[in-house]
Amino acid sequence: MEIGHFKWLRSHTARYNLSSSGVMPITLGELVKLGQPGNIIDELTSTYAIDKVNIALTHGTQEGNFAALSALRELGIDRVVTVVPEYEPIRALPGFLGLRHIEVEVHETLLEVINHIEPGTVLLLSNPNNPTGLFLDRKLLWELSDSLRRRNAYAVLDSIFLEFVEEDLRQLPLENVVYTFSTSKFYTMSELKVGWVIGDEAIIKAINGIIDLVSPLVLELDLGYASILIRSRKWVRERNLGIIRPNVEVMRRLIDALSGGVKVYYTEYMPIFYMRVDCRGLTGTSLAEGLLARDVFVVPGHYFGRDDGIRVGLGSVKPETFEIAMKTIINVVNSECSSKHH
Ligand SMILES: Cc1ncc(COP(=O)(O)O)c(C=O)c1O
Repeated sequence: MEIGHFKWLRSHTARYNLSSSGVMPITLGELVKLGQPGNIIDELTSTYAIDKVNIALTHGTQEGNFAALSALRELGIDRVVTVVPEYEPIRALPGFLGLRHIEVEVHETLLEVINHIEPGTVLLLSNPNNPTGLFLDRKLLWELSDSLRRRNAYAVLDSIFLEFVEEDLRQLPLENVVYTFSTSKFYTMSELKVGWVIGDEAIIKAINGIIDLVSPLVLELDLGYASILIRSRKWVRERNLGIIRPNVEVMRRLIDALSGGVKVYYTEYMPIFYMRVDCRGLTGTSLAEGLLARDVFVVPGHYFGRDDGIRVGLGSVKPETFEIAMKTIINVVNSECSSKHH
């Protein structure tokens, strides 16, 4: 098994690196100023307004996805629905676990999957979606949970980006749904990583069994520091917005200069946007390669199952750097599109 997305990230480098979907990491020095380590379960129960039976601790979001899908398989699920475009490890997981896999193309909303919910099905989605930022808000999540319950189906929602778009995480529907999280994107640090899954009690119980099988016990040091991060959500949010928002302003100011046939998908305040290009013959991969030749590093749509554009990071460079990279992207797209048009 090889995840092409990671191979792409590991085998290139460039001066203008917009390939990351994260934010510049919080340093250990900043973290220790925020307070003392506490109990992560207490922080999670109050952040989500849930009981501890609704929480499982993991080492990351992907481990959470793996454990959740394995748990549902154990509970009798045999069919998984995912969307395109989608983060590659999510698309790879159903087949790896030997489950039937249906992929649904989505264009305007993630609800385009709803007609594919049948008894014995699990929806496995990143919400917000990586790369487009399309997402189901709390109201739509309640609708989803209702239809899942009625049809005896489930959802595993990779919620690693949820904090970027939702301030209040209380009152998420928990019936037939689990949400996987980690410190990897919003609470970003290079020195530590903790994950957690919240949701339906029966699924959480089965997830804990899988974690015990594969990799029990997240270490106290990680848990204590992660508890500071979760307790400091407001500070983390402001800090992240301070990095992302100036780049979003640059992006908005510059995209007016884009030629026709280009559409930008962006949800405030995600650390990524997706630029879809619809010029004859121009693929995301050829565009990303053209950009690499000009020292700009992005991720082609190919690694999300639809090679119709590029994913661009907004959280890992300063606005001056971002502006130079963005101008290069626009110049390359415009010259490719004008030469590719009839
Ligand atoms: C949708 C999604 N899920 C999971 C991950 C990785 O999460 P973790 O490092 O917590 O396993 C990423 C990283 O880019 C991601 O985009």
